[in-house]
Amino acid sequence: MSKCSVAVIFGGASSEYEVSLRSAAFVISGIDPEKYDLTMVGITKTGNWYLYNGPVEKIADNSWNQPQYVTPAILPPDPTYGGLLVMEEGGSRVIELDVVFPVLHGKNGEDGTIQGVFEMAQIPYVGCGVLASAACMDKAMTHTVLDQAGIPNAMWADIYPWDLENFDETELELCDTLGYPMFVKPANAGSSVGVSKAANKEELLSALQLAFEHDGKAVVEEFIKGREVECAVFGNHGAKASVLGEIAPKKEFYDYEAKYQDDSTDLYIPARISEETADLVRELALAAYEALGCAGLSRVDFFVQDEGIILNEINTLPGFTAISMYPKLMMEGGMTHFELISGLIELALNK
Ligand SMILES: Nc1ncnc2c1ncn2[C@@H]1O[C@H](COP(=O)(O)OP(=O)(O)O)[C@@H](O)[C@H]1O
Ligand SMILES: [Mg+2]
Repeated sequence: MSKCSVAVIFGGASSEYEVSLRSAAFVISGIDPEKYDLTMVGITKTGNWYLYNGPVEKIADNSWNQPQYVTPAILPPDPTYGGLLVMEEGGSRVIELDVVFPVLHGKNGEDGTIQGVFEMAQIPYVGCGVLASAACMDKAMTHTVLDQAGIPNAMWADIYPWDLENFDETELELCDTLGYPMFVKPANAGSSVGVSKAANKEELLSALQLAFEHDGKAVVEEFIKGREVECAVFGNHGAKASVLGEIAPKKEFYDYEAKYQDDSTDLYIPARISEETADLVRELALAAYEALGCAGLSRVDFFVQDEGIILNEINTLPGFTAISMYPKLMMEGGMTHFELISGLIELALNK
């Protein structure tokens, strides 16, 4: 029997390009060579696609894009190709693919866009489909679906650049509904890029201006104080929720540096909450997973307060580095690295 042909796609035209490289290195090292034929595809920050034939270490440290390792390649949306079209000097050839694992975070990779290409090409892929990816990427859409499903989330408002033309009025309304301090985010970003806390009118204006540098829509939320608790969900219909993890940023909030660059965050597995609360968190995680139509995997993030549980966001392709919460939680549940990656590929093939 021939092995299953799997392509791992890494990089991407996204502010989370560097994170993707590290996630991809971890995913690739978890692909069982006994079971899979691996094809590696790198997308540069400017959106160029390449077949990559070099060492995995050069992905993680962003030195993969060198002429001796890369050949231009694309995934045609035309299903008759059945895989990756590689443009070699003498002509082109196709690498047939059974399944794709897009290890891409944020824009273009986690928001339904590349998932649309896989749908058109009719190639199964790991993770959420077009709609769930887009709805979880856009924080205003996520809030809307959660509100509709009766799943507790922070009070929120969506703000657009033209709302700044009448900023006095906008600010008054936000004060009425949310009150200071407020938390401001681009609706579509990730890895804490462009998020900030605003304690007064002046800070609110600069927080909104910062958010608009990353997206044409901002989400403003009431400020939530609580433990940050994360739940890994794995599966299609009938998905399972993991042991919970807790991140305890020593800073004001869990910003980009705290996530990837410094050691200003403590991790606790399991989270320091009661078993009853943990069960409720898992129940809400699965309810949100279903309401948003997720598949394969997602990490569902919460704030746990004394007064209750608030769902913060759903990451359809959560950080997947060796030190990331999603793989840690899954492996805490008893899976090996190989089993986790094969399991996700199986879920894609059985979607
Ligand atoms: N409403 C809020 N109140 C207080 N802190 C928040 C709020 N929303 C987010 N944060 C903090 O900001 C971090 C990043 O926000 P998040 O919504 O998770 O965006 P991202 O998609 O960039 O991870 C969170 O991990 C948390 O520390
Ligand atoms: Mg987050």
